[in-house]
Amino acid sequence: MRDKATEEYYRYRAPEYEQIYYRDNPARRKEIEDEATYIRKLVTKKEVLDIACGTGYWTHIAAETAKNIIACDLAREMITEARKKNYRKSPFFVIADLEQLPFADNAFDIILLGFWFSHQPKQSYHTLFSTIKRLLRDNGHIWLIDNNPPAEGSNQHSAYKDNHGNNYKRRFLDNGKEFIILKNYFSRQELIQIFQHHFSVERITYNTYYWSVTLAK
Ligand SMILES: C[S@@+](CC[C@H](N)C(=O)[O-])C[C@H]1O[C@@H](n2cnc3c(N)ncnc32)[C@H](O)[C@@H]1O
Repeated sequence: MRDKATEEYYRYRAPEYEQIYYRDNPARRKEIEDEATYIRKLVTKKEVLDIACGTGYWTHIAAETAKNIIACDLAREMITEARKKNYRKSPFFVIADLEQLPFADNAFDIILLGFWFSHQPKQSYHTLFSTIKRLLRDNGHIWLIDNNPPAEGSNQHSAYKDNHGNNYKRRFLDNGKEFIILKNYFSRQELIQIFQHHFSVERITYNTYYWSVTLAK
């Protein structure tokens, strides 16, 4: 179940996307750095899949310690940006829709899903979760990170909600081009409720700017 506007938005945004990580806000930066420290440890000597990898921000961090890493994204434009980085361990990049991932069952120890869950339509969580379960080994883990509303700065206005309760909001590129994309936000309790039906919730952080969870199969 793909949201065309979200797809198109990220294709256009690829060259400017990674600015989000370098905004001049020490508290925000610290939350990201803390997760990076956690990820380096989590993926050490592991076989890793980074789904919807974008410009490879987390791929690059995981590649510091992982045994090997595959990174995939629907947008060729994002993969082009991701390929520009210097990695300790070169990832294998794949252009792929996360609903049709061309990987074998039980192939990965760790799956990373950075800043995607907020764009996943609520009515198709089960599709995403069954894909993840298929790809993960029995003792594998998935790590997700996403935004809390303060990460959006002044642009917190909701454009509308659909029948499934998905939130849509306006996003603008640096050149002013406007998109309305699906973007959901969650309380800590909502996150636990969503994930605990399908996984064991191993770790949850719920900070000012970001939340993250690590789930076991
Ligand atoms: C918010 S970005 C996250 C990028 C990266 N994971 C990160 O944390 O910085 C969302 C990414 O999802 C990708 N994407 C959108 N629809 C997708 C789909 N159906 N399958 C795979 N990737 C998709 C976009 O191209 C974009 O790179």
